[in-house]
Amino acid sequence: MPLMSASPASSPEAPGLTGRTAVVTGAAGGIGRACSLRLAAAGARVRAVDMDAEGLADLVAFAEGTVEAYALDLTDLDAAERAAEGADILVNNAGIQLVRPIEDFPPEVFSRVLTVMLEAPFRLVRGALPGMYERGWGRIVNISSVHGLIASPYKSAYVAAKHGLEGLSKVAALEGAPHGVTSNCVSPGYVRTPLVERQITDQAAAHGISPERVVSEVLLADAAVKRLVEPEEVAEAVAYLCGPHSSFITGASLSMDGGWTAH
Ligand SMILES: NC(=O)c1ccc[n+]([C@@H]2O[C@H](COP(=O)([O-])OP(=O)(O)OC[C@H]3O[C@@H](n4cnc5c(N)ncnc54)[C@H](O)[C@@H]3O)[C@@H](O)[C@H]2O)c1
Repeated sequence: MPLMSASPASSPEAPGLTGRTAVVTGAAGGIGRACSLRLAAAGARVRAVDMDAEGLADLVAFAEGTVEAYALDLTDLDAAERAAEGADILVNNAGIQLVRPIEDFPPEVFSRVLTVMLEAPFRLVRGALPGMYERGWGRIVNISSVHGLIASPYKSAYVAAKHGLEGLSKVAALEGAPHGVTSNCVSPGYVRTPLVERQITDQAAAHGISPERVVSEVLLADAAVKRLVEPEEVAEAVAYLCGPHSSFITGASLSMDGGWTAH
């Protein structure tokens, strides 16, 4: 038996994502929008799922016909499962955050965070897998976080949901492997999205320091690289995990945290 054989990665005619259907949740803004545009640029038909119909309309207009809007509140779990039917690529990205000590954390918000960020991804994976198995190919990318790997105080629901998502992603990797389906997480530190920009402005006012100092001394206190990650950098990692050179990468979590978890 030869020790070396041709691999998909070495094939010069390795295809892009033409003909693939990608479902991206939380697509109306930030990281989800960047992922939608990047996957569309690689040739995928993108189904952009979000509850923000206005943001979706803006994305669709910007994408000039390569992205289709699918307005949906992911807390409707049956509808979430249906939204993923026919997906070759699933990017579980939608997320919400509340920063509050555990003793003050409203239980109904904890439940909502877990529903949107863990139960909905489970239902979307559940909706996507039968078709992926039928076609013998699938890519699941879960947008986790540095908080899928380590904790910070006051983020109980978010940290619990992201740790759960890392686990779900690994199980999908093990079950999907015989069917040509990979499942991975991308785990960024702070990304320059409207959400984080607002946090910087608020913290600058609260601490009476400049926005630059909020970024380097507060948000990035534990990161070695003192800048925010751009949404397009996260989208590039997602596209790589869906591309022809990554079929051996599964069950992994790709940290993009400027060295935060290297401590
Ligand atoms: N921004 C960061 O610093 C950062 C860092 C690490 C991980 N992440 C993760 O990246 C993902 C995207 O974050 P972002 O910063 O782009 O946030 P964002 O707020 O800009 O985008 C999140 C999107 O999710 C949508 N959404 C929220 N709840 C929904 C629901 N119930 N149904 C449908 N859509 C819903 C929102 O409408 C929004 O468009 C999240 O999972 C977040 O946890 C973000």
